[in-house]
Amino acid sequence: MRHFLTLQDLTPDELNWVVNRAIELKRYQRQGQLHEPLKNRVLGMIFEKSSTRTRVSFEAGMAQLGGSAIFLSPRDTQLGRGEPIEDSARVLSRMVDVVMIRTFDHDTVERFAAFSQVPVINALTDDFHPCQLLADMQTFVEQRGSIQGKTVAWIGDGNNMCHSYINAARQFDFQLRIATPVGFEPATSLVAANRDRIELVSTPEQAVRGAHLVATDVWASMGQEDEQQQRQQQFANYQVSEALLDQASDDVVFMHCLPAHRGEEVNHTVLDDPRAVVWEEAENRLHAQKALLEFLLSQEE
Ligand code: CP
Ligand code: NVA
Repeated sequence: MRHFLTLQDLTPDELNWVVNRAIELKRYQRQGQLHEPLKNRVLGMIFEKSSTRTRVSFEAGMAQLGGSAIFLSPRDTQLGRGEPIEDSARVLSRMVDVVMIRTFDHDTVERFAAFSQVPVINALTDDFHPCQLLADMQTFVEQRGSIQGKTVAWIGDGNNMCHSYINAARQFDFQLRIATPVGFEPATSLVAANRDRIELVSTPEQAVRGAHLVATDVWASMGQEDEQQQRQQQFANYQVSEALLDQASDDVVFMHCLPAHRGEEVNHTVLDDPRAVVWEEAENRLHAQKALLEFLLSQEE
């Protein structure tokens, strides 16, 4: 039985299989070809934070694969009334075939996985967002071919998305330049473990020079709403614009996991620039997670 709590839970070969399979499943979908290997399989979806893309892509994905999904919010389950996560894991995993969790502490998904009889997928924690990286890698491969050996620039907060980009740099074998305001660098342990793949630079301009992919995310993540105003000042020089992309490689693509805040981490027009591939990236959440579900559920047979 395999879990997907970070990108490190799959080998580089397995991750590349998932990405290529996602591209294939997208083609089936486009051609209207039914593909229902998960008939009668059920996904439990625990959401302790809001979501548009993750919820809809997992729920639609399970339906398209022939299975179904159950949305579980702490507001109306015993999770919100203090039932221990370990007990919830023991109970839910006797009833469903795979569980997806979006929560705050990364420790929560690890504890759930330790007591689960079925695969557990991290659908975003404060520390990592590995499902988004599957979609981002699929999008890059579709647009530009292999990302191996390419240069990627991360602009903004050293947050969950940045951490997953660091893991992706190791697993998909690219170089990552990270530009964050002082005090918002990614976790030191992750930086130390990936010194050969990543470089911390001071300005967005330094990060994007020659980059083939530029990515950013909101300045204040879910759970950091109180810091929004202060962060707007601290991150003011870290906005992605067409002018910033002009300093990257000629064939650069721009990604954002969304939702985007125009006028903050992106200006009002860059999402409409032809170099921005954010809508394709968002759609690919569906295909990439279908491939992931297929992979995880075939491992345990
Ligand atoms: N990118 C992403 O995970 O979006 P949602 O928060 O809408 O799921
Ligand atoms: N860093 C953002 C990503 C949302 C998909 C957050 O955690 O809110």
